[in-house]
Amino acid sequence: MVEIPAEDSDKSDKSDSDSETESQPTEFSVVMDTVVCWENAIPKELLSIKPAGSGSFGKVFYCIPRDALEDYPNIAKQPTKKLPGSLKAQICAVKVHSATTMVEQAWAEAEILKYIQQADEFPGRHLSRLLAANIPATGLSTITMEAVMGPTLDHFWNSYMGRFDSQWMPKEFVWHVFLQLGAAIRFIHSMNVSHNDLHDGNVMLNMARQDFPGLPNVVLIDFGQANHFETEARNPFRTKPAVPAEKIELLIEDDNAAFFQILYALSMGIVDREDSWDWHTFTALLEDSAYGFGSRGQSDAQKCVLDKMTTRYEAPAIAERAKISQKAKENIARHLSVVTVVRSLGLSDDEIRSAVVAELDKA
Ligand SMILES: Nc1ncnc2c1ncn2[C@@H]1O[C@H](COP(=O)(O)OP(=O)(O)O)[C@@H](O)[C@H]1O
Ligand SMILES: [Mg+2]
Repeated sequence: MVEIPAEDSDKSDKSDSDSETESQPTEFSVVMDTVVCWENAIPKELLSIKPAGSGSFGKVFYCIPRDALEDYPNIAKQPTKKLPGSLKAQICAVKVHSATTMVEQAWAEAEILKYIQQADEFPGRHLSRLLAANIPATGLSTITMEAVMGPTLDHFWNSYMGRFDSQWMPKEFVWHVFLQLGAAIRFIHSMNVSHNDLHDGNVMLNMARQDFPGLPNVVLIDFGQANHFETEARNPFRTKPAVPAEKIELLIEDDNAAFFQILYALSMGIVDREDSWDWHTFTALLEDSAYGFGSRGQSDAQKCVLDKMTTRYEAPAIAERAKISQKAKENIARHLSVVTVVRSLGLSDDEIRSAVVAELDKA
């Protein structure tokens, strides 16, 4: 259910008190901001549990519907009992767009998500799923999404690279990202949507869902910069011309190059003595793409669009991923569960319980 208000013809009284060009928030500023105003924008029917992360344009909070709590009156009395899965399943993530001036972008993000998830083939386990949106003509906009329980790929990878024993990451993990993130990207492109902000901070790992047992689902998030011609043309808050349909093709090519860049960066960190011919040629193509990055059409790898890469490497990727050792899976799972190592890990039972108990105490 997406509730997006109709166009407000008089937007001249829009408050500009929040700066659109604010610098990258630090962890500290996120905490301060939550107290001051961001959290106030969260829909009243949701209880905020804790910040999930922040980017250049928004701050995201894990939340739970307040009316869900009524079914669990005994949580406070059972501090050691495992939290019911039915309660945890109701956790969602609310993105508060960081300035009132971002209404155009917030509307587009919500509508593009709504558009792609209407398709039958929507790969919802690998893409942000919109649950609701509140886009007022004045004030901060919010979009409510399914929560991803885990870190961003960059937090995961950077923390791994910093480990003294950082040689355990298997190349199967890169094949896994290629398969799952690649499927998400190919899907949005098939809907003529370009993402335009593809980097490892906009990719999350969800340990709570494992389509390939033992490895976290890879999820593409953040459609704040995405383009879709028909959607933009309908934007009631539009201040700039919609990106022409033919330009989307170039943006799609840029998305592909950015995806190859992510894979290339990951593959650089893999030390695997058991090389295979497929891995060898795959990484050579990625390397080619990395050196041609930013100059459209100049590199063979960039011309070799994602569909071609998939045709060539999907079967080997599936076959090689299947060979991942139990030990390698355990290493990844262990690494993903160490809060002090990987930031933005998701939510612990204790964090949920404390927020719920505090709320029930108030009542
Ligand atoms: N669905 C989600 N579940 C949990 N955390 C999320 C979710 N979406 C985003 N986040 C967290 O919030 C951060 C900022 O969200 P993002 O949409 O990337 O905002 P921005 O447009 O500011 O970059 C992400 O890097 C991630 O840590
Ligand atoms: Mg982002």
